[in-house]
Amino acid sequence: MNVEISTPTTELVQRLSATPRGARLARRLTGAALATWGYPHEGDLSHTAQLIVAELAANAVTHGRVPGRDFELRLGLLREKNTLRIEVSDARGDRKLRFLDGRPEDEHGRGLVVVQVLASLWGVSERDVGKTVWVELSLSPRQRPGTPRPCPRRPGPAG
Ligand SMILES: Nc1ncnc2c1ncn2[C@@H]1O[C@H](COP(=O)(O)OP(=O)(O)O)[C@@H](O)[C@H]1O
Ligand SMILES: [Mg+2]
Repeated sequence: MNVEISTPTTELVQRLSATPRGARLARRLTGAALATWGYPHEGDLSHTAQLIVAELAANAVTHGRVPGRDFELRLGLLREKNTLRIEVSDARGDRKLRFLDGRPEDEHGRGLVVVQVLASLWGVSERDVGKTVWVELSLSPRQRPGTPRPCPRRPGPAG
């Protein structure tokens, strides 16, 4: 008997225009793809992934933009590694991403700090044209309803 076991598709690859609209679309596609894969819009994973994609896409369309070239969003759910991998590729070859010394009230210079705080792993890799900024997020085990949690002891009634 021949039994075929197929892995469900858990990858999204999308080229987008290197514009603010393209960056917004990248974020929305991320929420939609994750919802299809069982991670709802309101959940922690989706929030985190959308925030990371928003920052990386904003960087791709400002700092990584080459006129006339798109950027690319790639999402992969690596179940065997219990990981969501996010990749945002742009056409600009220089790989020097730098952390800016910003004051807390500054509007700029926080994107990579946010990415670093949220990511389990992240980095930049070369490609034939341009570069890829990638992030891996661990998928935490979903909490089962009704799982008892330890709670702090309260003093009992006197007597
Ligand atoms: N995709 C990119 N291509 C080239 N340089 C980048 C890219 N992403 C980030 N950088 C560099 O890293 C710096 C820090 O990025 P970030 O923390 O997002 O701050 P901001 O985008 O507000 O400048 C940017 O100012 C830029 O010099
Ligand atoms: Mg930025």
